[in-house]
Amino acid sequence: MSIKGKKIVLGITGSIAAYKTPHLVRLLIKAGADVRVVITDAAAHFVSALSLSTVSKHPVLASVSDGANWNNHVELGLWADAMVIAPCSANTLAKLAGGLCDNLLAAVYLSARCPVFIAPAMDEDMWIHPATKANIAKVKSYNNKIIPVAHGELASGLVGEGRMAEPEDIIKYLSSYFSDDHKPLAGINALVTAGPTFERIDPVRFIGNFSTGKMGIAIAEALAEKGALVTLVLGPTHEQTSHKGITTIKVETGDEMYNASMAVFNDCQLAVLTAAVADYKPAMRSEVKIKKQDGDLNLLLTKNKDILAALGKIKVPGQTLVGFALETNNELENAQLKLESKNADMIVLNSLSDTGAGFGHDTNKVILLMRNGEKIPFPLMTKKEVAGAITEQIIKLRYATETV
Ligand code: CTP
Repeated sequence: MSIKGKKIVLGITGSIAAYKTPHLVRLLIKAGADVRVVITDAAAHFVSALSLSTVSKHPVLASVSDGANWNNHVELGLWADAMVIAPCSANTLAKLAGGLCDNLLAAVYLSARCPVFIAPAMDEDMWIHPATKANIAKVKSYNNKIIPVAHGELASGLVGEGRMAEPEDIIKYLSSYFSDDHKPLAGINALVTAGPTFERIDPVRFIGNFSTGKMGIAIAEALAEKGALVTLVLGPTHEQTSHKGITTIKVETGDEMYNASMAVFNDCQLAVLTAAVADYKPAMRSEVKIKKQDGDLNLLLTKNKDILAALGKIKVPGQTLVGFALETNNELENAQLKLESKNADMIVLNSLSDTGAGFGHDTNKVILLMRNGEKIPFPLMTKKEVAGAITEQIIKLRYATETV
């Protein structure tokens, strides 16, 4: 099932429907999710933390200072692939709409970079009140998903709309969201540069590097798998892809890669520049083969255009720019400098000093540096897994900036 392997924070608020949440936790776990529960004080009147910790197999968190440190709200917000607030009372809905933050649940919500699903639960009169309607519209405008309320008997004894969706229906909603049919990057045009560039000296010689383009192709495929329409600007390499979501433009030189990238970037919402562009090219390209002479040959090199920096300059809100940094020394410091100087939203740092990482290998070990100072390290993984991790982070980033 599609919920399998997802990390889910379940937020429970004060509503009679909270009594159904141990069952919801059970169903989530049965579907393969890893669940952490956060409750409000009011929720504790309707469901016991002991039941929830027993079924979720983890302690239930209730206050910002729970756990070993105070910033568990940020950690949970970053950890989660999805946050589900079920039941969501009228009061909590108003807090979410207004950005209030007077309990752990609200703090996790504000810190969450993942999709948030809200299952409201209240009496029909509260549900149809214009204030509630306005709050629903507001939280929807923040990209949250509302799990439709059900019709039926309410706690007041009245029959009407406002019941929390049944746990089984919440699972169905989440499954369909996470199913392969729902692609979080659907409708996104993405540019990926990959491979080396060859800078010709004469018709038979060039300056190049050992890049194979494997990492970039893996990223192009991971983005396409999530629904993006990818233009892959690929330097000279034997690696290729036949993924149907990818259009490949083959180039040879840094100038050609620059021109191809500039031509498509305006129409893209995302660019991931993995190419190892030669920083320098011969100042003159000889049209004929340079003959051997006595003594040394001096080759004058001139700078290639920096594609990442150029895109960083023309980037507009709604465009996400990701660069790579391959470093051999002062890795974090240099990567941080690249993030800022090239105006990227994320830099993927790989170090040649890590065994199994870098050019030609099928594995890579990276640290993601984010614009807010966050650094996310990953263990040695296959390039496909690294591409998946980078793609997940891109999706989270785009949700956080409400651009999806
Ligand atoms: N890059 C680019 N165009 C260039 C050089 C680099 O688009 N002419 C991009 C790479 O694709 C990568 C990032 O910039 O995403 C960093 O590349 P790297 O070669 O590590 O950094 P440089 O800026 O070239 O700096 P240095 O070589 O001094 O480390």
